[in-house]
Amino acid sequence: MSGANKQILPSNEEKPLFVNSMFARIAPTYDRMNRLMAMGQDQSWRREMLAYCNLPPRGTLLDIGTGTGDIAYEAMRLYPGIQAYGADFTYEMMAAGVGREPGLALPYTQADTYHLPYADNTFDAVVSGFMVRNLVDRTAAFREQARVAKPGGRVVCLEITPPDNTILGPLFQLYFFRIVPIIGGLISGDSEAYAYLPQSTVNFPAPTKLAHIMEMAGLRNVVYHERMMGTVAIHVGMKL
Ligand SMILES: C[S@@+](CC[C@H](N)C(=O)[O-])C[C@H]1O[C@@H](n2cnc3c(N)ncnc32)[C@H](O)[C@@H]1O
Repeated sequence: MSGANKQILPSNEEKPLFVNSMFARIAPTYDRMNRLMAMGQDQSWRREMLAYCNLPPRGTLLDIGTGTGDIAYEAMRLYPGIQAYGADFTYEMMAAGVGREPGLALPYTQADTYHLPYADNTFDAVVSGFMVRNLVDRTAAFREQARVAKPGGRVVCLEITPPDNTILGPLFQLYFFRIVPIIGGLISGDSEAYAYLPQSTVNFPAPTKLAHIMEMAGLRNVVYHERMMGTVAIHVGMKL
């Protein structure tokens, strides 16, 4: 991978500001690029993660790192009667999603995942999609997600799996490290952002390790489901 693995990752101290300003820049083209990158599969992963939430009728769901609200809107489409809430620390991502689904009202809140502005035991499910790999202290983030989940509620995480862990190996690396930055650069005009995205998966924990991190954060019965030949994983934990 040598040349493709050029280090453009920010330090832990720089990371929150780096991530925030990068998503602010790519917000207008994020959804289009996401569909392309995931070859149209991303919505099926979002639907599957929502099925694991086990939402009761009229239940509540927090989508943290909601971006433009993809998961939250999908939840309200699939489970009429539930109320989803979207939170993200990048204002521009949420602004790009406002009003995109006529007839579905998604309340957005600007919030950092480490300090959620909600009381303990608030939501039936807390979900995140493609956010956790951008974080430095994942245990603290899951602890905070568990705090705002109700007892018996689920915490569900959809993420890309580190390339070394996948059976697709070299093919995945070629696509993700070489092709994605080129297409991302063309569509968003920001090739640096789309060089960071693959890099951010490199040091991300393998699925067993991430399950352990969730347990360390206080979640129980953590299981995970690998998809797209091991390139994506959905982790599910329960708050007791
Ligand atoms: C790759 S996008 C995913 C958006 C959406 N969940 C999806 O499935 O398409 C990651 C999102 O996480 C947000 N994010 C990253 N770090 C965060 C933090 N510390 N607190 C809140 N949001 C964060 C970013 O602003 C960005 O909108």
